[in-house]
Parts: sequence; structure tokens; C-alpha cells
Amino acid sequence: MDPVRLTVATPSRTYPIILGNGTLASLTRWLDEAGTPARRFVVSNALVWRLHGERLTSVGLRNPILVPDGERFKNTQSVSRVYDALIKANADRASTVITFGGGVLGDLAGFAAASYLRGVPLVHIPTTLLAQVDSSIGGKVGVNHPLGKNLIGAFHQPHAVVIDLAVLNTLPRREFRAGLYEVIKYGVTSSPGLFDRIVRDRTAIFAKKPEVLLPIVAESCQIKADIVAADERESGLRRILNFGHTAGHALEAVTRYRRYRHGEAVAYGMLVAAELSVRRGALAKTDRHALADLISALGPLPPIGDVSIGQIVDAMKHDKKMVAGRLHYVLPKAIGGTTIVDDVTEKEMKQALRTVGFRR
Ligand SMILES: NC(=O)c1ccc[n+]([C@@H]2O[C@H](COP(=O)([O-])OP(=O)(O)OC[C@H]3O[C@@H](n4cnc5c(N)ncnc54)[C@H](O)[C@@H]3O)[C@@H](O)[C@H]2O)c1
Ligand SMILES: [Zn+2]
Repeated sequence: MDPVRLTVATPSRTYPIILGNGTLASLTRWLDEAGTPARRFVVSNALVWRLHGERLTSVGLRNPILVPDGERFKNTQSVSRVYDALIKANADRASTVITFGGGVLGDLAGFAAASYLRGVPLVHIPTTLLAQVDSSIGGKVGVNHPLGKNLIGAFHQPHAVVIDLAVLNTLPRREFRAGLYEVIKYGVTSSPGLFDRIVRDRTAIFAKKPEVLLPIVAESCQIKADIVAADERESGLRRILNFGHTAGHALEAVTRYRRYRHGEAVAYGMLVAAELSVRRGALAKTDRHALADLISALGPLPPIGDVSIGQIVDAMKHDKKMVAGRLHYVLPKAIGGTTIVDDVTEKEMKQALRTVGFRR
């Protein structure tokens, strides 16, 4: 199967996404074609390297810089470890940083690449579904601060993104689902066809059949690429990607990033947004049902019944999406379209949270 090539054309850089099953076998070619400097430093974690490192050593990329695995290590200390290794190896501006892992690894090693020597070339090789369809595209890199998620960061577009579906074979089912919720997000914001394909092909998707999964990952990447091309720094259009993320981020924060995978919290966030929209008469009930049905058909979500509405509303007040004191909220208008509003009242929000199942 020939790889699919997509292009991300942003004001700061135009770069390819190479996507297929087995693409890593030709990694050297993609790196050369993207014009990345030949001194290449891989950053990964022990788990991903143990499972898939052979795919890189077989094309001559050895001795990775390893950082600890997990969202709690997505911090400036881990970035420092990457700097230490780069400095010891005399990495210079004619060096490439290659990230090999999920979204946590890509964000933190990408931030190291953005800041080391004021920025060195970066290539992402995302290994979770979420990283393949979302975090590796668009140039947002960064780490958490003890007082909040993703508070330290930069925009640093990669020179290339190389996606190999083969690495997903080892991804736990729960992580796979977490990525699928972000694919559903793209369906709701931008593509009814994508949404319908997930409904129809669910079983084949979970079986990770490349002929079914490839078009789904490709369309997701294309949607994200188009959006970041139009609005690299999130001043307008890119905000629609926050659909499901306002209540989602609040839910992650109040449960201290422990109970839910990011995508799971987004799944709840999408349900909250759909409920708000139905209450405003902006979304048909049948569309809200279609969304709820698809989310529940994918499998169980960790429960929310003990999370209080008040906590969620408080957490939203600290949201980065606040602009001049108003929360910009992405509401679905249909499967395949959204609108951004800034007048959601606390009362409306509490009612929607109640309907979705949060505790009074
Ligand atoms: N930069 C962006 O635009 C953007 C967008 C969305 C999310 N994010 C960030 O992405 C992060 C979440 O990323 P994630 O969901 O990929 O989680 P993750 O990076 O924590 O990966 C989940 C787990 O799966 C492991 N793993 C990775 N690849 C694997 C494989 N092929 N087989 C088996 N296990 C594998 C990881 O090591 C980790 O233990 C969050 O920090 C979020 O803020 C960033
Ligand atoms: Zn997300």
C-alpha cells in the first residue's frame, strides 16, 4: 500500500504528513525528502522504545533520549533531560529532533526542539491514535506547570509528520478509544461523512484493519491540517477544535488528570455541548442522540456521577479559552457544523451538566 501524503501549509512552514501501514520502513527516505538535517536525535520513552524501537534501529536510528512516560512527567524537568542529552551530544542547529511516542512525548520533546538553540528542526512520529490524528499536527508543543495543564509552550511546526498505523497494534483498547473520540469530534465539527463511517465501520476500526482505519486517520489529519492552515495561532477558526474541550478540560482538572484519558473527558464535553445546543434550539435532538449513541457504542466511559456540577463550573472559570472574561464555547449546530458563542450562562451550563449526569 502506497503511503498517503497530505500537506500542512501554515504561514510559518509547509510540511508533509506521510501516512500508511509500514511507513517507518522507509523513514530515511521521508526524512531526506523533508530536508531534515542528517544528525538525528530520537526522543522516546522506555515503553514505546521497547515495543517499537526496532522499527527505528532498523533504519539506523539508535540510542534514543528516553524520558519518563506519563502525563505527570510532561513538565520542565523532562524537557531539561532532553536539553542535557542534546548538549552532551553537541547537537547544533543542523540537527533534527525526532519524537517517537504519544501526545505527551510529542508535546514535551517538541517543546525541547522549539526552545533548544531557539529552535531546531523537528519530526513527529506519533504512536497513539490521538497523537496521529491530533497532537502531532499543527505545531502546538508544550508542558504542564504544577498550577495548570499546557501552561508553558510554543508554536513550532515540524518538518514532517510520519504516521505508521502498524504501531497501533500494541495500543491498549482504552487508549485507542480515547483517540477515536477526537475523531468523532472532527466528524461533528467538520464531516458528517466521517461521523457516519465511524458508526458503520466500528468493528473493523477496532480490528485496526488498515483499509478501514487509513481513510479515517487520513481524513482526520486533513481536517486538522486545513484548520491550522487557515488559523495557525488559534485566533478564529482553530477554536472549533475546542469542541468538547471546555467541559472536558474542566473534568480532567477536577479529577486531577487521573481518572479520565483526555479523549474520554472530551467525550463527556461533547455531550455537554450537544445538550446546551439542544436546549438553545440550535441542534436537533436526533443529532444529540446520534452522538450519544455513537459514544456509548464505542465502550464504557469512567463514571461521572460523583463529580459535582459546582466543581466543573469553577474549573471552567480558569479555562485558557476565556477571552476578556468570557468563555468562548463551541456548540454543534448539526453533525458536521458548529457555532461559537460567548453568552452561555452559568444556569444553562448547570442544567446541561445535570442532564448529562453530573452530581448536583
Ligand atoms: N499539541 C497538541 O495540539 C495536542 C492536541 C491534543 C492533545 N495533546 C496532548 O497529548 C497528550 C495526550 O496524548 P496521548 O493520548 O497520546 O497520551 P500519552 O502520550 O500519554 O500515551 C498514552 C500511553 O500509551 C503509550 N503508548 C504510546 N504509543 C503506544 C503504542 N504504540 N503501543 C502501546 N502503548 C503506547 C504511552 O507511552 C502512554 O503510556 C496530552 O498531554 C495532551 O495535552 C496535544
Ligand atoms: Zn483534545
